[in-house]
Amino acid sequence: MTEIMKGMGKLSKEERPVIGQLANEVRQGITGLIEEKKKELEAAILEQKLSKEKIDVTLPGRKAPVGSHHLLGSVIRDVQDLFIGMGFSIAEGPEVETDTYNFEKLNLPKNHPARDMQDSFYLSEDILLRTHTSPMQARTLEAHHGRGPVKIICPGKVYRRDNDDATHSHQFMQIEGLYVDRNVRLSDLKGVLTVFAKHVFGADREIRLRPSFFPFTEPSVEMDISCFRCGGHGCNVCKGTGWIEILGAGMVHPNVLRMSGFDPAVYSGFAFGMGPERIAMLKYGIEDIRHFYTDDSRFLSQFKRS
Ligand code: PHE
Repeated sequence: MTEIMKGMGKLSKEERPVIGQLANEVRQGITGLIEEKKKELEAAILEQKLSKEKIDVTLPGRKAPVGSHHLLGSVIRDVQDLFIGMGFSIAEGPEVETDTYNFEKLNLPKNHPARDMQDSFYLSEDILLRTHTSPMQARTLEAHHGRGPVKIICPGKVYRRDNDDATHSHQFMQIEGLYVDRNVRLSDLKGVLTVFAKHVFGADREIRLRPSFFPFTEPSVEMDISCFRCGGHGCNVCKGTGWIEILGAGMVHPNVLRMSGFDPAVYSGFAFGMGPERIAMLKYGIEDIRHFYTDDSRFLSQFKRS
């Protein structure tokens, strides 16, 4: 077409309009055909795309994963709520603790053999990762300047030099309880612990207190609950004894009261310390403590609650 248009100059005056018109008609014809073909191809491409990207609206939807509370957190909150209901308040203290609060103010002077009960991670000569939540007994008593009542529970992480296995962890949790006032007695401790055991493990649980030793309580006890897995078929939880050890407790030692500014002639109190991992393991039949810390969603999702 371009060649023909270029040659127009060589034509005579008469031929020029005729050929010009003809050339225009031919050009329009060709352009029209190209447009038509283009539309056809575009339609074919769209058709192909639509059939490839077809959406089946009847397929089931994809579920977005929803998180949940960690089992350990649920157990701790449950215990906290129970004690708040009995008039206790929550206290929290440092995980990096001084030797003074972790041991000395709990009636465990340097070189006391009972320090061996708790192998410690020392950061310097006088500073360590707390081996239990009991230092909060001394810290809370001090903060009350010799005047009761003191009624707290303290949940938190503690650290011990243990080799990790199914039942030991170098880091775990404790919940400490402390109640100091005039005329607090061992029978008060027993009453509170009975309420606790029945709330957490079921109304048909019984408790028993066995004599034990802790330097910061006198007398000291360990609490057992009646075994709830012996269905008459032998039992690997309580080894057939009928009892499971749950926690340590006792009456606050007069030395501890005195060192923290309370007069043992006026005030008395009880303290207890429990391990929420152990409670959860017994309650839900969990065999390895490491499940609490390894964030395997197959484990965690079994304890989802609304
Ligand atoms: N602190 C003790 C432990 O870790 C538990 C305990 C707390 C015992 C309070 C008596 C009173 O083993």
